[in-house]
Amino acid sequence: MKFFLDTAIREEIRDLAALGFVDGVTTNPSLLKEARAPYRRVLEEICRLVSGPVSAEVLAEESAGMLREARELAAIAPNIVIKVPMGSEGLRAAAALHAEGVGTNVTLVFSANQALLAAKAGARFVSPFIGRLDDVGQSGMALIEEILDIYGNYDFETEVIVASVRHPMHVVEAARLGADIVTMPAKVLRAMFAHPLTDVGKAKFLEAWREVERG
Ligand code: G3P
Repeated sequence: MKFFLDTAIREEIRDLAALGFVDGVTTNPSLLKEARAPYRRVLEEICRLVSGPVSAEVLAEESAGMLREARELAAIAPNIVIKVPMGSEGLRAAAALHAEGVGTNVTLVFSANQALLAAKAGARFVSPFIGRLDDVGQSGMALIEEILDIYGNYDFETEVIVASVRHPMHVVEAARLGADIVTMPAKVLRAMFAHPLTDVGKAKFLEAWREVERG
């Protein structure tokens, strides 16, 4: 299972990548806004920090505009993946980019049929937003299960990125289902390291060792 960071904050990416747990990065316009620097520079820096896929989103609403933006973004670095929004225009752009050998990540996916269309369009990744489904009283994880079941029936190359992740239990559930990738905020990845009993245990061992040293 691969871990992507869902952030454009370069310091967070640098710190967690140094620990060896960052297989890729996903950004979107809201996340790039938080980085408070020109988006192109931010993406260039992220692509230098991480060798895996870095998703950068197009903003145009029609496929022709998406393709223009996608070609500019793809020129930033070889590991850029183009995020296109779900919909007929986004999927038209995804299919054209696939034909040109440019990888895409179809984002804002909220149903199994949308995921099926993304796979048929040749998307490299599909991003179902589970937290936003949970927010409106639907099960985000049930959607992941449904998509994995469907993809398992065919030989699609599309990988499922579990996105809009809010807490470490989302990661556990996604892993139990065998999802390819989870993209998460840095605070969720950091929370995965922690358990109060680990801290208590470390303190006890340290104290015991100090007593031995004191004799
Ligand atoms: O990867 C998608 C993510 O950025 C959306 O997350 O928390 O805004 O639903 P959220």
